[in-house]
Amino acid sequence: MQSIPLILEVRPINHSLILKDTDSLPKEDQSVLQIWGKASLSGQVKISGAKNSALAIMAGALLCPQDCRLHNVPSLVDIRKMSQILCALGVKLERNGDTLDLNASHIGHSSAPYELVSQLRASFFAIGPILARLGVVRIPLPGGCAIGARPVDLHVRGLQAMGAHVHIEHGMVHAYVSGSGSKKLKGAKIYLDYPSVGATETLMMAATLAEGETILENAAQEPEVADLANFCRAMGAKIRGAGTNTIVISGVPSLHSVEYSIIPDRIEAGTLLIAGAITNSEITLSPVIPDHLSAVIAKLREIGSKVIMEGTNRLRIVPDTIQATDIETLPFPGFPTDMQAPFMALLTLSEGDSVITETVFENRMRHVAELNRMGADIRVKGNNAIVRGVPMLSGAPVMATDLRASAALVLAGLAAEGKTIIKGLHHLDRGYENLEEKLRNLGAKLKRVKDETEPEDTSTAKKETSTATSKITVTPQ
Ligand code: UD1
Repeated sequence: MQSIPLILEVRPINHSLILKDTDSLPKEDQSVLQIWGKASLSGQVKISGAKNSALAIMAGALLCPQDCRLHNVPSLVDIRKMSQILCALGVKLERNGDTLDLNASHIGHSSAPYELVSQLRASFFAIGPILARLGVVRIPLPGGCAIGARPVDLHVRGLQAMGAHVHIEHGMVHAYVSGSGSKKLKGAKIYLDYPSVGATETLMMAATLAEGETILENAAQEPEVADLANFCRAMGAKIRGAGTNTIVISGVPSLHSVEYSIIPDRIEAGTLLIAGAITNSEITLSPVIPDHLSAVIAKLREIGSKVIMEGTNRLRIVPDTIQATDIETLPFPGFPTDMQAPFMALLTLSEGDSVITETVFENRMRHVAELNRMGADIRVKGNNAIVRGVPMLSGAPVMATDLRASAALVLAGLAAEGKTIIKGLHHLDRGYENLEEKLRNLGAKLKRVKDETEPEDTSTAKKETSTATSKITVTPQ
C-alpha cells in the first residue's frame, strides 16, 4: 500500500542543527496571485506528501523516546507551525529537503503556546501521545475556525474512558492519570459518536502505550488514520483494523526508533485532477494511491472525464464534457469535505444544475460568494449549494477564505476569461506545496506579486473582500 517502514539504524540527530525553517515563520503573505485564465495545461505533475498525515505523524513522534525519521514531508506553513509547537514541547527537529528528523527523548507536558495551537488544530492531537507517555498534559483548547466550531469533546471523552481526569480551565485542557503507580492510561472500549479523524488519531496514539486493549468503534477510516497507524506499528505499536471502522490497539510498554515515508496527498491530487478537467487539459499525476481518490474519481467520471490508471501509482485525466452532478460530503470513503470547494469550482461550468451538500462542517460555503463574483451562479440554502452551470467564468479580484476555498479560486481562475487576482494567499500556503510552480510547469499563466492595492481603495470589490477578511479568525484543517 505504501513504502515499507524500516527501523532506523542508531544514528543520533545532530542537535546543533535545529530546523532552519521553523526558526521564524514567515509573516502572513500579503501578496496576491494573478492568474490569466484559459491557458491549456499539459504534462506531468508530482504529488507531495500528505499534509494531514504528516501533521498527525509528527504528533505521533511524541510517543517515541528515540529518533524518528520521516520522508516525503511537504514543505508547508502548517508543517512549520507544527514543528514550532513540537520544539516548544522539547522535541529536537532537523529538516533536510523532504526528510524530517525528530527526537522527543526529552519532552515537557505543558509548554505548547496558545498562539500556535490556536492556529493549527492538528497540534491539539498532541494531547494523546503526551498523556500516554507522561501521564499528564496541559494543552490549550484550539478554538473554532473559519469552517466551523470544531469542538474536541470526542477527544476528551475518549481519554476519560481510558482513565484520564480532564479539566478545562482558562482555555486550557489539563489531563492526567491519577494514582501512585505507573500513571498509564487503561485500555477501553470507546464508541465515537461521529467518525472524527482527529479524535480517532488522538485516541489511537494514546492507546498505543496504555495498559491493555482499546477498541475504537465507529472510528474514522481516512487514509491518514491508516498512515498514522502504520507509522505507530513501525515503532512497535500493536494496532489492527486501521482503515476500517473498528480499530483494536493492544498497549505496549514503549515504542522505538523508526524511519517512515508519508503517503501522497490525496487532496492535492484531487485538486490537480480538477485542474485538468476545468481547463479541458490532459495531465498526469504521480505518485498517487488511486484507492484514496475513489469518490473523487467516480464523480469526475460521472461528469464526463476519463480518469485512467497507469500502473499502480499514476493517474491521467482526459477531460471531455462537464455534466452536472450532485455531491454530498461524508467521512471516508465518502466524498471528502476537503474536495467540496474545488469540485464546486468545476461544477460552476457544468451543463445543468448540481446540488452540493456539506455534511461534515457547518460553515464551509464561504467560497460561494467569491465564485459568484467570477460569474458563477450558486445559491446556498442551509448546507446545500445549488450550482447552476454557466458557459463561462470571468476573472475578478477575489478573497480566499480558507485553505480549500483558496484552491477553488485558483481552479476557477485557471478556467476564467481574463485576469483573476486572489488575495488571502496565506490560506493556500498552509496546505499546497509549490502549487504555483507545479501549475506553471504544466503551462498555466500565473504570478505571485506584491499587493499594490491602495489601502484607501474602497471599490465594491475591495469592500466585499475586506468583509470576508475581517471575519476570518484562523483556519486550522
Ligand atoms: C481532519 C482534517 C481536515 C478534514 C477533516 C474531515 C487534519 C489535520 N485535518 O480534521 O482537513 O477536513 O478531518 O475529513 O487531519 N467533531 C466534534 N467533536 C470532536 C471532533 C470533531 O463534534 O471532538 C466534529 C467537527 O466539528 C466536524 C466533524 O466532527 O464537524 C469532523 O471533524 P474531524 O473529522 O474531527 O476533523 P479534523 O480531525 O479536525
